[in-house]
Amino acid sequence: MRYLIFTDIHGNLEALNTVLNLAETKSIDRYLLLGDLVGYGADPEEVINKIQGIECISTIRGNHDKAVANIDSLEGFNAVAAAAIVWTRENLSDENMHFLSQLPKGPLTVHENITLCHGAPFDEDYYIFGELDAAEAFSYIDTPLTFFGHTHLPFVYSLKNGLVKGSYISGNEEKVVLEKDTKYLINPGSVGQPRDRNSLTSCAIYESEKNKVSFFRMKYDIEKAQDKIRKAGLPPSLAERLSLGV
Ligand SMILES: [Fe+2]
Repeated sequence: MRYLIFTDIHGNLEALNTVLNLAETKSIDRYLLLGDLVGYGADPEEVINKIQGIECISTIRGNHDKAVANIDSLEGFNAVAAAAIVWTRENLSDENMHFLSQLPKGPLTVHENITLCHGAPFDEDYYIFGELDAAEAFSYIDTPLTFFGHTHLPFVYSLKNGLVKGSYISGNEEKVVLEKDTKYLINPGSVGQPRDRNSLTSCAIYESEKNKVSFFRMKYDIEKAQDKIRKAGLPPSLAERLSLGV
């Protein structure tokens, strides 16, 4: 089975299209989406419509999805993120607001014993930023393989014989072969707002028969996404950060 692992689209339709085009060329069987479909970018409605059109997809909610859907308040969001959430609320159809509001909370276990979470398995809003965080997260997980998002950084954490190791994945088509007797927490990076000073859109493909996860970084039409953000009246810094990868 081939899975596309993707997360943190944040209303960036151009980046999402690039990732879905890759999926088509790679004969993907199932799609696993780890939350934050909206917030920041100018195409929340179109992004949700695209996601709804995908068969065989499992999706969980992210912190921005929750805030847009009024499940959470704007407390804890900085001024720019909060402004984007308010804009997104005003620019979504009732139908798609409802879609966001009913997205399941992680952690969620799907298919071949795979866990999905947005932030961490013990708190969907928590950022896993290092080996200590990962060690705590592993203690909450029974499945060998967990995918997470939220940090917008492509990363692999492994747990073997009580030892946690973290590796940042910087390259395109970088591959990680999953070992037996090892647990993994894997972040595919962000589709719509990468933050590792690399502006390329990010996703991963997991091939369960081969026990392999491949990471992908691809160019997409950043200028178009930026132009839409500026024209929509969203904070201009949201356009600028896309080309900086921050
Ligand atoms: Fe996010």
